Amino acid sequence: MAQPSQIQLVASVLSFDLSRLGEECTALEQAGIDGIQWDIMDGHFVPNLTFGPDVIASVRDQVSIPFEAHLMVEDPDNMAARYAKAGCQRVIVHVEACRHLHRTLGAIADLGAAAGVALNPSTPLDAVAHVLDLVDMVLVMTVNPGFGGQTYLKSMSPKISQARRLINSTSKPIHLEVDGGISPDTIGDAVAAGANVLIAGSTLTRDPQGVQHAIEELRQAAG
Ligand code: DX5
Repeated sequence: MAQPSQIQLVASVLSFDLSRLGEECTALEQAGIDGIQWDIMDGHFVPNLTFGPDVIASVRDQVSIPFEAHLMVEDPDNMAARYAKAGCQRVIVHVEACRHLHRTLGAIADLGAAAGVALNPSTPLDAVAHVLDLVDMVLVMTVNPGFGGQTYLKSMSPKISQARRLINSTSKPIHLEVDGGISPDTIGDAVAAGANVLIAGSTLTRDPQGVQHAIEELRQAAG
């Protein structure tokens, strides 16, 4: 089975100007980003508190690129449908927040959304070995979730490679996404380890030449 291998850059808007999210998403689309990731934080699973579904719905029709919701929440079963309805084509849940992960992922698919599963740095890959038939994405976190602007955990490289081997052993097309600390200095490591979808947040806002230049730099560094 040929697994998806084209490198995709998806922007996390957590570090962007939250008073201008519509314009920021429009600028990202015009700059050639492949999608937007909304970091959903409930102040319990992670200390931070971020976007409700209405915020996403208010931006949805301003751009046509895909949205995904990264649920860093204690109760994903109660939240997933709201973010799918708000316009997210993919809903990603954390293994660590799901008592019945198989059921939760199936319920996301029943909504008509793609289901993704995320692993915190300390969570072994085995936790997703029996649900790969239900997902179109495995997300390996390269920071501890909750904040943008953190340092990429290079110690996760073997885990990314292990995830790549696991995905390649299946007959289902599954993306391997890496989220946290991605920059021109770290994207090469993540791609070499097997990631094909990279989340870029603060690296896009730090570039004095703007998001288009930052995206070009990342694509170049990805090889
Ligand atoms: C952590 C968040 C961040 C964000 C990306 O909970 O998920 O990883 O999306 O932020 P940067 O790219 O600034 O690490």
